[in-house]
This record gives sequence, C-alpha cells and structure tokens, in this order.
Amino acid sequence: MVWFTGLSGAGKSTLADTLEARLHADGRHTYLLDGDNLRHGLNRDLGFSAEDRRENIRRVGEVAALMVDAGLIVIAAFISPFRADRDAIRQLLPGRFIEVHVDTPLEVCEQRDPKGLYRKARAGQLKDFTGLDSPFEAPESAELRIDTSRLGVEDAVQQILDHLRGRQYPE
Ligand code: PPS
Repeated sequence: MVWFTGLSGAGKSTLADTLEARLHADGRHTYLLDGDNLRHGLNRDLGFSAEDRRENIRRVGEVAALMVDAGLIVIAAFISPFRADRDAIRQLLPGRFIEVHVDTPLEVCEQRDPKGLYRKARAGQLKDFTGLDSPFEAPESAELRIDTSRLGVEDAVQQILDHLRGRQYPE
C-alpha cells in the first residue's frame, strides 16, 4: 500500500496517477483510492470537520486493507492530516504500508491553487481548510518525502518505484 499524504495542491493525485500508470506498464494490478472516488460514494456523508476526516481515513484504510489482502497494490491519495489515523492504517498492514509525505510548501500549494479553494478559504468562504485553519500533522517517519516544487513528477515516481523494488514487492 502506497499512501500519499500532504496538503491540498501538494501533488498527491499527480504522483498517484503517474505511479499507477508506471505500475500498469509493468504488468502490476493496482487500485487507486482518492478523495474524488471515495467522497462521492462510500464517504459522501462526510465533511471536513476533524471527526469526519478521521472517519474518512478510517474507512479508506479498511477498504484499502481488504484490497491489499486481495493482492492488489493499493495507491491512496488523501490529505489524511492526522498522524494517529495514518499510523492506525500502518498497524492494519504491518510491513506493507509505505507512507509518502508529499511535502510541498504551503506557499507553493497556495500559489498553484488548482481548484481555487485556497482563494475561497482566504476570503472566508470555506472553513476548516487544511494548512490555514485546520491542522496538518506532518509524518515523523515516512518512508519517503517528496517536495514537488524541487523534484519533477517522473523523478519522484522513480524514487517510489526504486523504494518498492528495494522492498521486493510481490510478483
Ligand atoms: S481528508 O482531510 O484526508 O479527509 O481530505 P480528502 O478526503 O483527501 O479530501 C481533500 C479534498 O477535498 C477538497 N476540500 C478540502 N480540502 C481540505 N480542507 C477543506 N476544508 C476542503 N474542502 C474541500 C480539496 O479539493 C481536497 O483535494 P486535494 O486533491 O487534496 O486538493
């Protein structure tokens, strides 16, 4: 399980999509979980309070663990702002949880603002926005840390693939 965590606009989805494409090209069976496919279905009852984010990540972790058991390489891209929630998923998947901290600086994420959400949050139209008025607890011992303002997507994905190969992920 490759778990991307980081701020909105940090580059989680871009990295996740590119990683999935590279794994497919290699003949691997993968499944990509992200806010878009989960928050419109399974988790559509959840918002962005701390409690709802916790429940969002808990459910994602349970679903992801089932998929890992079924033999898939699961790629997850969620802000997942709370350390304890990410660590709980690590416990569900001993030795099979690879945490990738997409550690792009807040200023860069805000400048990119691909969905205009930072602008809305700064204007007071969106509350509890991660990095502004809702916390992000950075990982203390992520397997990988990637700053997409310094490293290109292809190089970043290559680092992740090298890490996976180093761990001899299942054939
Ligand atoms: S979380 O914190 O892990 O439960 O969030 P996640 O399921 O990854 O959803 C994050 C996407 O929701 C959009 N969005 C917000 N993000 C943060 N804070 C607030 N208040 C918020 N409201 C909506 C935002 O587009 C996130 O997408 P990404 O892809 O991360 O930019």
